[in-house]
Amino acid sequence: MAEHRSGQWYSGTDRNAYIHRAWMRRGLPAHAFDGRPHIAIANTASDLTPCNAHLNEVAESVKQGVYEAGGIPLNLPVVSLGETLVRPTAMLWRNMAAMAIEEMLRANPIDGVVLLGGCDKTIPALLMAAASVDLPAVVVPGGPMLTGTFRGQPLGCGTDVWRLSEEVRAGTLSEAEFLQSESSMIRSRGHCNTMGTASTMGLLAEALGTVLPGLAGTPAADSRLLERSHETGRLVVEMVAEHRTPSSLLTRGSFLNAIVALAAIGGSTNAVVHLLAIAGRLGIDLKQDDFDATGADVPLLVDLQPSGRFLMEDFFRAGGLHAVLREVRDLLDPAALTVTGKPLVDHLGVGQIWDREVIRSRAEPLQPHAGIAVLYGNLAPDGAVIKPAAASPHLLHHRGRAVVFDSIEDMHARIDDPELDVDADSILVMRGCGPKGYPGMPEVANMPLPAKLLRHGVRDMVRICDGRMSGTAYGTVVLHVAPEAAAGGPLALVRSGDFVILDVAARRLDIDIPAEELAARLPDAATVTAYAKPRRGWERLYVETVQQANTGADLDFLVGSTGDRVSRESH
Ligand code: FES
Repeated sequence: MAEHRSGQWYSGTDRNAYIHRAWMRRGLPAHAFDGRPHIAIANTASDLTPCNAHLNEVAESVKQGVYEAGGIPLNLPVVSLGETLVRPTAMLWRNMAAMAIEEMLRANPIDGVVLLGGCDKTIPALLMAAASVDLPAVVVPGGPMLTGTFRGQPLGCGTDVWRLSEEVRAGTLSEAEFLQSESSMIRSRGHCNTMGTASTMGLLAEALGTVLPGLAGTPAADSRLLERSHETGRLVVEMVAEHRTPSSLLTRGSFLNAIVALAAIGGSTNAVVHLLAIAGRLGIDLKQDDFDATGADVPLLVDLQPSGRFLMEDFFRAGGLHAVLREVRDLLDPAALTVTGKPLVDHLGVGQIWDREVIRSRAEPLQPHAGIAVLYGNLAPDGAVIKPAAASPHLLHHRGRAVVFDSIEDMHARIDDPELDVDADSILVMRGCGPKGYPGMPEVANMPLPAKLLRHGVRDMVRICDGRMSGTAYGTVVLHVAPEAAAGGPLALVRSGDFVILDVAARRLDIDIPAEELAARLPDAATVTAYAKPRRGWERLYVETVQQANTGADLDFLVGSTGDRVSRESH
């Protein structure tokens, strides 16, 4: 049997092998170094990432499975990102987390890794890292929280915060009532229970083939999560023996399967930048246009918030991901493999819909075309995305006067100004929110509607932004405009009063002014000075090297893989 990678540290009788073994002998028996695989549990548990705080218990179950299968499990706490707390936006730190995790996986004597994630950026960062190191890797999504209720009604965390806060601004809910709902929002351990980014990325990790089939979507508080985590521990030992690395499993077909799944579940638009970034680490030719070409005609089968009615606990009860994928099985690449070594489609046999309100059949979809549309035009030469399923149908073809904000601060300062020149047909444009401009591409594109329009019953408007939108939000929002304003995109040139045309069916997004006039324009001084120019540290490195949203917003020098080899040693 070929020696494991960890044997490069532990095998032999020389001084260095002595050092490596001796310092690890705190509880590890001698046979831990007899050639068994050493498995890292890359653990994003943190008290400051509430969605992942339960992952230490999950890690214990993984450990038991690893031991049982003859491996040595090793807990490896890694950078953790809590979506609700981390400032200025967790997305600024996704690539930093991915880089730090990649380097620690490579630097340490491990043969395989179990990736424990949950909250939005954690699974993407873990998968980006694992792809670049290319060690056998399997994800355990930490799972959604159980459904909380307030006054007898279920609360979708995230989504209902936006809804209730808009009600307060509209004057239909008192602030005291709003605050009463706060302690009901988070009922249990786990991540957001809508089809937000965390739920989406957990499910897509499985559709990609990187999760034990049947695990994703298991609620965090469900005992089956621990049972399947134990099984995952056993599986990773088998993966090491079979040398099932990300590059040997994942293909373009795997990513197209994930795009089909994204459309069918009505998942978060954030999946676009995350899947593009993961594919970039593997050298797989995935383009933003693939989301439209592959996903646009996939039917929407899942009726979950933010655009629908139910929550993740309902989704799991109704049959979960396999029930959905079975309905669209003919759209999946039959050759795309999973961590089991078998194709994804081979695992769908037991999938069944148990509640046709929550998960629809292919014959009776919620919407016939569910995917993400990619728009181009003189306002977005490199593309922008919109999720038509979460938009108002009457706004999908709309011409309106732009009301422009240079930054999120500018928007907050003026959005509720009674003097703001805005009406229900206006188009709200916000820039300075892209990867470089903010920096970090925050989830602010679903900007609040002006209070004076809310009071008149307006509940949606076309909004355009170079930032992202929370996966728990909804509305007619055009996101990820590229190039962003801070990278010289024409979004920097649009002025309040210009007419802007959104035509989703034609996949167009344009400023309705003559080309010569647009070409002659320069950004206003206020626009240029709104962009951050960090002086030092991670933010400086990020701004100088981050790529645009249409390629995944990874740092240019992190794209690709350098594998698991480390040729030098300091002792
Ligand atoms: Fe962590 Fe929503 S805040 S998943």
